[in-house]
Amino acid sequence: METKVLDLRDTKRPQNEIERQITAAAEVIRGGGLVAIPTETVYGLGANALDSQAVERIFEAKGRPQDNPLILHVAGPAWLARYCVDVPPLAYVLARRFWPGPLTMILKRRDIVPDVTTAGLATVGVRCPEHPVTLAILREAGVPIAAPSANRSGRPSCTTAADVLEDMDGRIEAVVDGGPCEVGVESTIVDLTVMPPRLLRPGGLPVEELEAVVGPVERDPALIRPLGEGEQPRAPGMKYRHYAPRAQVTVVTGGPEASAREIRRRLKPGVGVICFDEYAGLFSGYPVEKLGPSGDKQAQARRVFDALRAFDAREQVTEIYAQCPDNKGLGLAINNRLKKAAAFRVVEAEERSVVLGITGGTGAGKTSALAAIEALGGRVLDCDRVYYEMLRTDEKVRSEIARTFGAACFLPDGQLDRKHLGNIVFHDPQRLDQLNHIIYDAMAPELRRRMEAEPCTLYAVDAINLIEGGLGEMCDRTVAVCSPAEQRVRRIMARDGIDEAYARSRLAAQKPESFYREKCDCVLENNETSPEAFTQKAWRFFKKLIEDIKEESQHGR
Ligand code: TXA
Ligand code: MG
Repeated sequence: METKVLDLRDTKRPQNEIERQITAAAEVIRGGGLVAIPTETVYGLGANALDSQAVERIFEAKGRPQDNPLILHVAGPAWLARYCVDVPPLAYVLARRFWPGPLTMILKRRDIVPDVTTAGLATVGVRCPEHPVTLAILREAGVPIAAPSANRSGRPSCTTAADVLEDMDGRIEAVVDGGPCEVGVESTIVDLTVMPPRLLRPGGLPVEELEAVVGPVERDPALIRPLGEGEQPRAPGMKYRHYAPRAQVTVVTGGPEASAREIRRRLKPGVGVICFDEYAGLFSGYPVEKLGPSGDKQAQARRVFDALRAFDAREQVTEIYAQCPDNKGLGLAINNRLKKAAAFRVVEAEERSVVLGITGGTGAGKTSALAAIEALGGRVLDCDRVYYEMLRTDEKVRSEIARTFGAACFLPDGQLDRKHLGNIVFHDPQRLDQLNHIIYDAMAPELRRRMEAEPCTLYAVDAINLIEGGLGEMCDRTVAVCSPAEQRVRRIMARDGIDEAYARSRLAAQKPESFYREKCDCVLENNETSPEAFTQKAWRFFKKLIEDIKEESQHGR
């Protein structure tokens, strides 16, 4: 059979020629033939839905399992009552609001709809597509068009007439070329025979928009995970391997920065990458299909099937890694298609964690600054505490101390004799230095162990000796908290209940503030009069700093 291409891309062509083509397509449909039709979602493989024999040919041409029902395409809400019974008022509300458009409603069917169309179900899916050419064909044919997506069963759906020819040339009478599909993923399917309505397939109409009209919509479990044994999805089609290119697909979830880095780690010969436009440069030398800008889900929806399809022409690609947007809006449908293409092979990329080193003299406001980090979801690693814990429990540190300062540093029961050790180091700066060395050398690995034990996306390493202890190395940024000396004096007098002379002597015993200013990457100034005001200032400061750090690593610096 020769497959005719009816070119209806350009609606500015002579009116009579357009009409001739539309009539020709409608005639094939009425005559029991197969015509691929453009819709706003994907191309459909259409036949007269009321003609069992014609519908059977759809299953044959696609290689589609017989138990997978087809969607009825209609010209508008007025056709609903012809093919469905007990149509709830809600169906008309939704049809009026979202049709023509990417919404399929499951309703009770009338007997006029043959069994083969609905795979024997008592319900039928109905939708009115938004494409002027297909709407014209529907009106002209005067019958509902049963149309699954026009791909061969199991392959990615078709979003251009060329895709359809790739799969269907020679198997169907005609393809109507209406240009590339505007939406790019199939319709959202919602079951209205149950209350609350149930989402059977996320699609071109974001479920949030649907919920704004109908209230909460239940999600079928099959949308987000592979089904267990014996579990049946509500939409029969959701159980089949789907949308899959030849090569094995793995979806990498997580923020775009994290997923890009994860994919880079997995590169090897034979790998192809589906990525957001901004990240394509990270994969030069490898076959790449761009999914669209990371912030533009509409573009991603339009691209997703084409990206999957494109790899079938690239012999050398045996494995595909794909970035994936979040689940909001159109993201849910894009996620679902990519994950189904991957047969739910999903790896979660770890988010980049940010480590900030916080230091500064007493009374400068470190505690309030750390409160801001906690408010940002960060974990504070208090190095003073870690220091004393290590003295008690870290065997390497303890034997090093015994070697350097004598076994007499430990009491017979194994406890550290802090008084004895204190007597040695507190009057001799060199000896103190030695002790600090022993502990700080062991501190960074210990801090890393603690971070790994309880992963988090933000850490603050809180250490008065941050710089001297060499802990700055493990930090993305070191931050000095600084405050005018007079304010610091007042603060520690109030905080520790001490007099002014003693407060001043304590400040004098510490490193001058200029030390922190010079040695740290940045300075957080505390001129605020209340701790709360400073915590707020610090919150804004750290938020910006974290964004900058992430931004930087995104650009590979
Ligand atoms: O956007 C679309 O919906 C495209 C274009 C061509 O309109 N069509 C489409 O059809 O995606 P298809 O056959 O590829 O997917 C239809 C899905 C299948 O998963 C099928 O199992 C489900 O809809 N479905 C059809 N009738 C149903 C019913 N009565 N109850 C539950 N699920 C149904
Ligand atoms: Mg399909």
